[in-house]
Amino acid sequence: MNVTEAVQSRRSVRAFLDKPVPQAVLRETIALAARAPSGGNVQPWHLFAVTGEPQRQIAERVAQRIQRADPDERPEYAIYPPKLWDPHRSARFELGEQMYAALGIARDDRLGRLQQFARNYRFFGAPAAVFCYVDRRMGPPQWSDLGMYLQTLMLLLRERGLDSCAQECWSVYPKTVASVLQPSPELMLFCGMSIGYADPDAPVNGFRSQRLPEEAFAHFVGFD
Ligand SMILES: Cc1cc2nc3c(=O)[nH]c(=O)nc-3n(C[C@H](O)[C@H](O)[C@H](O)COP(=O)(O)O)c2cc1C
Repeated sequence: MNVTEAVQSRRSVRAFLDKPVPQAVLRETIALAARAPSGGNVQPWHLFAVTGEPQRQIAERVAQRIQRADPDERPEYAIYPPKLWDPHRSARFELGEQMYAALGIARDDRLGRLQQFARNYRFFGAPAAVFCYVDRRMGPPQWSDLGMYLQTLMLLLRERGLDSCAQECWSVYPKTVASVLQPSPELMLFCGMSIGYADPDAPVNGFRSQRLPEEAFAHFVGFD
């Protein structure tokens, strides 16, 4: 697989087969992904890989937390800016429409949509996950470095036949996740990532997210 194939075949997978991820592969890719660049080579990422009982515990505890809120548990950050504007707002809306159409969930089926969203917190059935943290003292440039790391990891996983879904939704329950992973207090949870082998028959994996045309985001200056 070349880089183009890895980029084109990576997609967010939201239903996984019940097939374990070899530990050696996960260790190798997590180490290799650190070849990602970072400003000043500060390498601000902190990763927790999880499988088995601790992973089950995280899902279980978050499920309980959703049932009974903890006033001391606050999201790490606002996932989107308030009043998202176009074209980003429409792009986000269209992703939801595409996904729920693939699942046959109607627009007004609020419960159906919520149930699908809740599958995030079951890792979409993935047998492994990573959680990505960053020191709270780091700023926006280092946050962007996390993206470099995470995309590199996802592409390396593709090369090994594995699939993934990055998940910001875990940042809503940092305290509950920390109750299992026990990260140092200065670390804040940026996102989780479910990892495993895609279920090829799952309808939710049967759509391809769209992209804005390059005119919407790229400017070519001084070219013919
Ligand atoms: C940092 C990050 C966080 C994300 N969080 C979630 C999430 O919580 N739940 C989810 O279903 N998808 C999540 N996604 C997946 C995006 O919805 C997805 O990347 C986007 O729609 C483009 O689709 P693609 O990944 O299939 O190309 C996240 C992606 C990124 C990069």
